[in-house]
Amino acid sequence: MSKIAVLTSGGDSPGMNAAVTAIARCANMLGMSLVGVDRGFNGLLGKNPEKDFIDMSLENALDIADMAGTQLRTARCLEFKQPEVQAKAAQLLRDLDVRGLIVIGGDGSFHGAQALCHHGMPCVGIPGTIDNDLAYTGMTLGYDTAVNVCVDAVRNIRATSRSHDRPHVVEVMGRHCGDIALQTAMATGSEIVICPEGKRWTVDSIARRLQSQIDQGNYRTTIVVAEGSWEEMAPFDVYEFLRPYGKQVFKGEPMTALRFASILKRKCKMPDGSYPEVRSTVVGYTQRGARPTARDAAFAFEAGVRAVDLLNRGIGNRVIGRKNGKVFDEDIDKALRARRPFDRMMYNVINAI
Ligand code: ADP
Ligand code: F6P
Repeated sequence: MSKIAVLTSGGDSPGMNAAVTAIARCANMLGMSLVGVDRGFNGLLGKNPEKDFIDMSLENALDIADMAGTQLRTARCLEFKQPEVQAKAAQLLRDLDVRGLIVIGGDGSFHGAQALCHHGMPCVGIPGTIDNDLAYTGMTLGYDTAVNVCVDAVRNIRATSRSHDRPHVVEVMGRHCGDIALQTAMATGSEIVICPEGKRWTVDSIARRLQSQIDQGNYRTTIVVAEGSWEEMAPFDVYEFLRPYGKQVFKGEPMTALRFASILKRKCKMPDGSYPEVRSTVVGYTQRGARPTARDAAFAFEAGVRAVDLLNRGIGNRVIGRKNGKVFDEDIDKALRARRPFDRMMYNVINAI
């Protein structure tokens, strides 16, 4: 019986378990055995071989498809960037009679998979990341779930904002990619969105936009901020601005959603001359730890099946994607070279009011 392996790596993403279940089911159907690698590339370092390889036959994998997180666990493993570590890992897999590896993770994890391919271990990548920052695919696994979590959060926030006449800053994840923020803003009617792809922005420009909303009688403006946008903000001295108001802030501390809300409050005025009560929420890890939506779980299933099918046919060096409703596979080197377009028109329309 031929043997394949699977690991999950980088930030976990909803749908990773569903993909593992599909992999186990397809492997079983094709008469292949499956081992799971514990904690991403960490499990390939050969430090703890008894614990690092887990039997993923059907009985262990069948009932995890709808679970959040990743049962195989995940990790960030910096050592794996070293070529000699990668070569040893490929040899370790060969010693275990593994003839192919499925890597479920994001851009970094795909670089790890690419390296293993160069060391002779066929790999297939499944794009498991909430960030949607892999350009070759229309969606990554977990992105749809993350957007849905953010949309729920913003809808709830807008309800209470409306009740209290309060603007709100909502920070969402995505690392350097603004897709979660943009989709969330589009789906909720949020009035302002800030994405890293929008490049340089200033605190004053957002304060002016918020003031314009207040002047138009909208006191519950939602400002959706992609976390990577803080790095694209034009320099602003948080300490110098907030300190005179008695706020506890230390020199050199970075901008955060909480401080941004506090600053916007003091830069804007309600019609009666009072400050608007700007509040903030960081949606955070609830985006990553959610149960997969139907769309993510179904993509996970198809991606898992296709990955096993490729390895069964002796094909490695590929990654799975989904575009226009169709699941496909692509050369890993080509996929990693792809560059993302940013939907500037949507960005501009949201921010135009
Ligand atoms: P993601 O896969 O979600 O983008 P990371 O960027 O943290 O997450 O990468 C996950 C893991 O992939 C890293 O901890 C490391 O083990 C491996 N990795 C990242 N970059 C490389 C690289 N250039 N070469 C080999 N392995 C890498
Ligand atoms: O890549 C997924 C992601 O959740 C990003 O959105 C976020 O910037 C990062 O991981 C957080 O990483 P950590 O788990 O190290 O806090």
